[in-house]
Amino acid sequence: MVSKFLKSARGSGHRETPHSPRTILHDATFGLSGAQTIVRAAITGVCGYLPSDVLSNSELAAMVDTSDAWIAERTGILERRILKGEGLGSSHMAAEAVRGLLAKTRCRPEEVDLLICATTTPDFVFPSTANLICDMVGIRNIGSFDVQAACSGFVYALTIAVQFVTAGKCRKIVVVGADKMSAIIDYTDRATCVLFGDGAGAVLVEPSFDGRGIIDCLIGSDGSGMPHLHQKAGGSRLPPTVDTVLQRLHYVHQEGAAVYKFAIARMAEVAGELMARNKLQPDDIDWLVPHQANRRIIEATAERAGLPMDRVMVTIHKFGNTTSATIPLCLWDFEPRLKAGDRLLMAAFGGGFTWGGAYLTWAYDGARAASAM
Ligand code: ACO
Repeated sequence: MVSKFLKSARGSGHRETPHSPRTILHDATFGLSGAQTIVRAAITGVCGYLPSDVLSNSELAAMVDTSDAWIAERTGILERRILKGEGLGSSHMAAEAVRGLLAKTRCRPEEVDLLICATTTPDFVFPSTANLICDMVGIRNIGSFDVQAACSGFVYALTIAVQFVTAGKCRKIVVVGADKMSAIIDYTDRATCVLFGDGAGAVLVEPSFDGRGIIDCLIGSDGSGMPHLHQKAGGSRLPPTVDTVLQRLHYVHQEGAAVYKFAIARMAEVAGELMARNKLQPDDIDWLVPHQANRRIIEATAERAGLPMDRVMVTIHKFGNTTSATIPLCLWDFEPRLKAGDRLLMAAFGGGFTWGGAYLTWAYDGARAASAM
């Protein structure tokens, strides 16, 4: 229904060559008039990519002083995926996810108006990973940029996409979350190396005219949280030197217990605020889609929101914490169970500190879309 409308809204006058510069649209009504002009941004497709190499808890126990039992009990993680292969960065996984998304949604690269990539592990300081992904999948001459908000990055990027769609500036936006956390993890530090994995997830965001789609978003940050979770060197404050490498300053530094406290409080606040301002009771939510940092944080968020765990998307046992990719990977994994009209509540927390959430109604029959692949 959405794609049929878009075809006609583009009209016969919409002409472009694959290499012509693309401009942001200025047709704020999408060609509609009067009462028809209420536009929401909706997720109309999802796809993910996970590297094939599995790193199990027992393998980690052979590398650092930990055990399968400790990791499983304290985090809920049983295994995670690791991207191997020389010269492969976050863009590789993101491009795989975006290629799958375009194929699945029958969206041609030249139809995409904007691509936003949430990542904490960009391939380079510059150019942006979003630029590289576009080139890899054949999307030319559109705006593309990265968003850096650690584990809240996908919700931040989705929130930006919503503004472009509801303002009538874009019709098809790809939002991708991709992180190769193994590139910045110290595999001699048991406090962090057991937590993270690599992966990417992408969604297509389009205008929706039937009331379904993203109803509310919120984002927040508190930069005073930096000391508790950051990468000490490699940026402009402490550029890389032989010394920074020898001191192992290019890895994730996390004070787990402090971050845990903030994460538990903020995830619950995000869910609570979205529920309060949209007048939602626990029974009004079909699925909680939480960032996957620790199963105990997920359970606490669900409990405080009044939701049983059978209505919570959980992938942490098999993928670990893939940072910007956790929420789109949850949507991809649970897509076959999603029905049009299902009400979803997203909640994320990450380094910065950052947090964010969204309340949305699902726009399509997930089982049909998943089986079409
Ligand atoms: N194996 C065995 N023991 C361990 C391990 C391990 N892998 N890691 C820590 N321990 C030990 C500690 O050394 C400590 O031992 P001690 O009591 O002798 O000092 C003990 O276990 C307890 O340590 P805690 O840090 O208090 O363990 P906790 O139960 O809090 O679990 C964890 C640690 C899993 C890191 C938890 O604190 C957590 O999930 N924190 C939040 C993570 C998060 O939400 N991050 C935000 C998103 S990430 C991003 O934005 C990039």
